[in-house]
Amino acid sequence: MKKDENLKNMLAQLDTYRDYISTQISTTQFPSNPHNLYEPAKYILELGGKRMRPILSMMACELFSGEFEKATNVAMGVEIFHNFTLIHDDIMDEAPLRRGKETVHKKWNSNVGLLSGDILMIESYKRLATARPEILPEILKLYNITAIEVCEGQQMDMDFEESESVSINEYVKMIRLKTAVLLGCSLKLGAIVGGAANKDSNDLYDFGTNLGIAFQLQDDILDVYADQNKFGKQVGGDIIANKKTFLLLTALATANASQKARLESLFTETDLEKKVKEVKEIYAELNIKEKAEEQMNIFYKTAMQNLDAINATEEKKMPLRAIAMYLMGRES
Ligand code: IPE
Ligand code: IPE
Ligand code: MG
Ligand code: MG
Ligand code: MG
Repeated sequence: MKKDENLKNMLAQLDTYRDYISTQISTTQFPSNPHNLYEPAKYILELGGKRMRPILSMMACELFSGEFEKATNVAMGVEIFHNFTLIHDDIMDEAPLRRGKETVHKKWNSNVGLLSGDILMIESYKRLATARPEILPEILKLYNITAIEVCEGQQMDMDFEESESVSINEYVKMIRLKTAVLLGCSLKLGAIVGGAANKDSNDLYDFGTNLGIAFQLQDDILDVYADQNKFGKQVGGDIIANKKTFLLLTALATANASQKARLESLFTETDLEKKVKEVKEIYAELNIKEKAEEQMNIFYKTAMQNLDAINATEEKKMPLRAIAMYLMGRES
């Protein structure tokens, strides 16, 4: 009972962290010119989002130091980096909607998206570079590795669209790189700023990556099944783009000959509404949603075990447990 109450309070506290980051973002000054460089950068940052990466950095810092404000620069750094990846990801995925609004390349154009994304990446480095000299090398080393991994994951994601056979292992590797390592990195950066011992910051990193894999599986599920009014992205976008998500790969692996032939013929279907509808019909025949949720829960459980291993009281770990639970129940 007490535990449930704690958890409820913690969920309310997520808003406090989120508001803190939103204030940091809205008070960030960008030059006014060139307008087409800075306006889109401001636009995407101010569209909102869950702000979970900076929240993770702040929670990790607080866990080890008792203060979350010390993590402000790394928190802002990871959020700004994330927003850079979103602008470029939306160009690559030809996505029309982000956080319920037009994507940057739709509102402006792809060239504007490329350069305003670049500006955000540089801006994120500026934030990280303000770290104390004694921790700066470690911070930059982790950040550089992570940024490279995100690009590798993104390229694998694009390559898989065209590739005929992708294994579940390759898929998990791809989502670990494109999504999960940034969650691990966000936590570890906050832990480093907060003065955590190596073992603890590494355990937190593992918690973040396993949670991140569960999070991307959830994202892939929502891409097919979310409520369009709540999701903020185009529902069905992954089906339209022939993304080799866990859902599609599992469908291909478990389909009978006729279902497989139907699925494969839908890859080239140009009536997009029909394409999404019919792929979903095959998914329903094969219980794909349930299978994906099962897989998501496996990674979520592993993340919880990583959290259990961290050397801190249950009370202190509660915010991280709360954000993990919140993420698994999200609708956007
Ligand atoms: C979207 O990330 C990109 C993925 C890794 C799935 P989020 O779902 O965290 O996006 P926002 O920041 O809350 O909009
Ligand atoms: C996102 O994967 C990964 C990165 C942005 C690096 P998705 O392409 O699934 O993300 P959404 O669904 O567009 O947010
Ligand atoms: Mg995308
Ligand atoms: Mg993508
Ligand atoms: Mg997605």
